[in-house]
Amino acid sequence: MRYKSQSVAYWYFAVAMVLFGLQLVFGLLSAAKYLGPDPLLNLLPFDVTKVIHTNLLIVWVLTGFMGATYWMVPDESRSELHSTKLAYIQLGLWVVMGVSAIIGYLFRFGTGNKLLEQPLPHKIVIVICMLIFLYNIGMTIKKSGRFTTTEGVLLLGLASAAVLYLPALLHYENYTVSIYYRWWTIHLWVEGVWEMIQGGFLAYLLIRLSGADREVMEKWLYVIVGLVFIAGILGTAHHYYWVGVPGYWLPLGGFFSALEPLALIGMAMYAYYAMRRSGLAHPNKLALHWTLGSAVFTLFGAGLLGFAHTFPSVNKWTHGTLITAMHGHAAFYGAYAMIVMAMIVYALPSLTRGREEEGGTIGYWAFWLQLAGMFGMTLSFATAGIGQVYLERILGMGYLDTQLKIQIHFLMLVATASIFATGVGLFIYDFFRHPRRIEVETNEVQPTNAPARHVL
Ligand code: HEM
Ligand code: HEM
Ligand SMILES: [Fe+2]
Repeated sequence: MRYKSQSVAYWYFAVAMVLFGLQLVFGLLSAAKYLGPDPLLNLLPFDVTKVIHTNLLIVWVLTGFMGATYWMVPDESRSELHSTKLAYIQLGLWVVMGVSAIIGYLFRFGTGNKLLEQPLPHKIVIVICMLIFLYNIGMTIKKSGRFTTTEGVLLLGLASAAVLYLPALLHYENYTVSIYYRWWTIHLWVEGVWEMIQGGFLAYLLIRLSGADREVMEKWLYVIVGLVFIAGILGTAHHYYWVGVPGYWLPLGGFFSALEPLALIGMAMYAYYAMRRSGLAHPNKLALHWTLGSAVFTLFGAGLLGFAHTFPSVNKWTHGTLITAMHGHAAFYGAYAMIVMAMIVYALPSLTRGREEEGGTIGYWAFWLQLAGMFGMTLSFATAGIGQVYLERILGMGYLDTQLKIQIHFLMLVATASIFATGVGLFIYDFFRHPRRIEVETNEVQPTNAPARHVL
């Protein structure tokens, strides 16, 4: 840690870790309900556990993004944060919002809009937190006078993510209109601007960990971000096939969303070649595992498994089945959970005392158990989904009869999810195992970078 104010990232990461753990509790509860009988049916039915599971995911990943940004921007701009006090106020507000939203879901307070269920007052607090965050980061960069392309891409992603949240504040009575705009937030987040955030962190980590040339890395970052945009914007239409909008969305969605994996192939190649060209070997090999892992798993979960059901001719059978859950898990985990963990593992030796720089045995177990577990979960959802599509959609069997026939896959899900949860448990334990450090170091490995542009 070169700047004292970077230590605020620790508390953001700590909150993210606790919420991640809690997310899995609700995931396991949701999975167990598929096996029945459900003793919690009246207290915590499936719809409630699933809403809490997915909302905790969004909140912890965003908390991780914020912490990682508070860590990265001082490094890139070579200055202290504008205000640590504001960063802590923002975190406090954010935690109150997150916890009260979850308590609210237990009592059925929510808008019923999948992944955006937060009631209006909570949504307003989210907007306030985002404004404080963007102001704090913006002022830090402005005061420092140093603005790199890497942090530019990150910032553009974060600011656009905030802007794209605005359609979620509006309420529409008409279901088609409501679902139409929901995708402006959800799809354009995960297949657009969040990928810029991931790209920003990826470039930062690769430059630091591999010593790859900053100018080359940043040029590629532009290409990838450009590709994401071109394909992702009209790719939104892969959610418009069956919601009651005109039929021309079908070819548009099929064509443009099928191009999206190109950007993801680009990203994985970018990470791989950065490592191949690298001159400097950073001691933190564990962070490198998470960084490359994120690029590769994104290609698998988002690129390959997204492509698998994105054409209208396939999606008409698979829409809203466990095939969607298969892709949702692998994509979200690879792209966003893993990149947050990469940033945490990179920053942790500086944020805590007495930790080995290269990552210890527990850290590696956490990595491989999570990877194996998530791969197994993806397979379980996939096999369940294929069975479901065949029995329910092709043979016309009833929904519940079908669920009984595919129970074996849910046993598989619970088993593999337990392996995954053990990996996450170890990651969380490893995080809290060492006490927090606040003093700065002077013997950090310095990046090998070309001078950044001074645009402010
Ligand atoms: C990191 C990137 C991605 C993430 C995190 C992600 C995540 C998700 C999630 C959570 C859903 C379920 C949403 C809901 O029903 O509310 C979904 C649906 C979908 N995704 Fe992705 N996705 C990503 C990239 C992609 C890509 C690149 C493609 C296509 C090549 C794709 C194709 C689809 C399709 C077609 C659906 C709709 C499934 C249905 O009809 O039920 N996704 N995605
Ligand atoms: C212990 C581990 C986990 C278990 C047992 C689990 C289980 C489940 C179950 C049963 C559902 C409901 C599927 C349905 O609607 O039928 C679900 C939904 C979801 N989970 Fe998980 N999950 C786990 C971890 C995760 C992780 C780590 C992520 C992301 C990084 C994640 C992301 C999602 C998403 C995006 C959905 C909504 C998918 C959709 O609606 O299609 N889950 N999960
Ligand atoms: Fe999408």
